[in-house]
Amino acid sequence: MELSYRLNKIAEKVIKNSIVADIGTDHAYIPIFLYKNNKIKGAIACDISKGSLQKAIDNINKYNLQNNIQTRLGNGLEKITLEDNVDTIIIAGMGGMLMIDILEKGINIANNSKQLILQPQKDVDKVRQYLHKNDFKIIDDEILKDDGKYYTIITAIKGKEDTLYKKEQYIFGKFEIENKSPILKEYIEEQLYKMEIVLKNIKETNIQNRILEIENNIKTYKEVLKCL
Ligand SMILES: C[S@@+](CC[C@H](N)C(=O)[O-])C[C@H]1O[C@@H](n2cnc3c(N)ncnc32)[C@H](O)[C@@H]1O
Repeated sequence: MELSYRLNKIAEKVIKNSIVADIGTDHAYIPIFLYKNNKIKGAIACDISKGSLQKAIDNINKYNLQNNIQTRLGNGLEKITLEDNVDTIIIAGMGGMLMIDILEKGINIANNSKQLILQPQKDVDKVRQYLHKNDFKIIDDEILKDDGKYYTIITAIKGKEDTLYKKEQYIFGKFEIENKSPILKEYIEEQLYKMEIVLKNIKETNIQNRILEIENNIKTYKEVLKCL
């Protein structure tokens, strides 16, 4: 089975020999790939949608992994119990606010896991803030480009961060700024280009609050760009 570059990157972060809960599994590609590559002991593939879970079941059956990958229909972490002994929770391909809601409602399960691997589609800064507020430490944070789109994968473990992040580190991730990531540079340059066009258009309509907001964003983005 071939995974997309994004899913492959997520799979790379999983601790070897762990038990994985893949929340919002859809096609179950990640758990199937992980099991077939001897990376995990087993997995629980969860989804809120019957249709998505059926796709997962069909794929799991196709690879004959019914004894190794369980499927559960439910909202977020609600169908995971402490007795499942989940080591790694993967939540990928959904909005950051939904991800926060899932973690909040299942905080007991999240607190007892060894590793969270999160790939929010938006509101990435809010996810980083949520993790810090709830005593999770970000140990890896990567921006990548797959098929022309940018994605962020955050890996966190239970524990306090030594120092809280600055505003721009919540927005872009501390490690990628420190590592002078060329992908982050490219992302910021693209966003700046788009924001400057929006600003130019909006100035003609004279919406002061929005103009100020975009000007502030442009300032922050340019400051980070200088460090990259
Ligand atoms: C875009 S797919 C992402 C699939 C896969 N995780 C990936 O990254 O390629 C999002 C999946 O999350 C599921 N989903 C949305 N809200 C959910 C929730 N609250 N709990 C569990 N699954 C959810 C959807 O049904 C859908 O199958």
